[in-house]
Amino acid sequence: MSQSNLHPMLNIAIKAARTAGAIINRASMDLDRISVTAKSHNDFVTEVDRAAEQAIIQTLLEAFPGHGILGEESGRTFGARDSEYLWIIDPLDGTTNFIHGLPVYAVSIALAFRGKIEQAVVYDPTRNDLFYATKGRGAFLNDKRLRVSKRIRLQDSLIGTGFPFRKGDNFKRYLKIFEEVMQNCAGLRRPGAASLDLCYVAAGWYDGFFETGLSPWDCAAGSLIITEAGGLVGNFTGEPDFLYQREIIAANPKIYAQLVRILAPHTRVIKEDAPAEDGAATEGLTPIDALAATMDPPSPAPTSAAVADAIPVKKVVRRIKKADVEDAPL
Ligand code: IPD
Ligand code: CA
Ligand code: CA
Repeated sequence: MSQSNLHPMLNIAIKAARTAGAIINRASMDLDRISVTAKSHNDFVTEVDRAAEQAIIQTLLEAFPGHGILGEESGRTFGARDSEYLWIIDPLDGTTNFIHGLPVYAVSIALAFRGKIEQAVVYDPTRNDLFYATKGRGAFLNDKRLRVSKRIRLQDSLIGTGFPFRKGDNFKRYLKIFEEVMQNCAGLRRPGAASLDLCYVAAGWYDGFFETGLSPWDCAAGSLIITEAGGLVGNFTGEPDFLYQREIIAANPKIYAQLVRILAPHTRVIKEDAPAEDGAATEGLTPIDALAATMDPPSPAPTSAAVADAIPVKKVVRRIKKADVEDAPL
């Protein structure tokens, strides 16, 4: 499947991802000037996240007005709520890297049909690298077919991970996992953008990856890219149910089994440690609506004018919950 012979829905997703990537790249050129603007620093990046998400939603809904949307920044505000098609969007994955000018971040867009991911795009705008997959048609990086690595021993493997950083995360238990994996593999990496971590497994650059605390928009697209590259993805006990479990393992099949052996005793780390009131507020909701209920208030409806205006409003000083969490001392 070369880029000239793509599924029409994937084509639209790629168009949306490239549009968002252009917004992010343009904003990244101003980063030095903006980073000296103390308090609006995080807010500017938040405006980039939102501008990118609005551009993606606009592109998707123009092509598929009857589809549903789950966006990291806007939740279920846009699109049809009862559609069997659901676009799952992370407009800027790796925000902390972006804030600091570290060029490891991506746009992640997946399409689920009746709950199963069928189309996936992860676009790295700093390298102009496009990872993509359609269910049953293989995974690609630009025009090159992707295959997971062939390594069979964990001790020879390069493993990716993400560190916990949220209030309520159980750092001690993560450190136990870290210690065990570290002592049994060839190297552990934490670049800081989960969607790209998953693509690195698909490309065979990592032999495996694990993380706790991820949301569906972090891993929906990457998960299809992995399975289409011959890898496996699941929760810490090795079952395929991971999207809403806040724990994920992805690897080539041999290394997957070895990671499950280490991680299974630590399954549901996040759930056990989550404060009780989180559960109470979302009781009775579907997984997606429960997630949306915990998110920031939605942005206004996206229009061409809103997308064009989004970057200049960077000077608006506004702290958001997410920035507070990321800045919280460990
Ligand atoms: C984050 C990145 C990071 C992961 C965090 C995510 P964001 O996404 O994927 O690698 O460790 O858990 O929240 O917030 O930059 O879109
Ligand atoms: Ca993310
Ligand atoms: Ca994000």
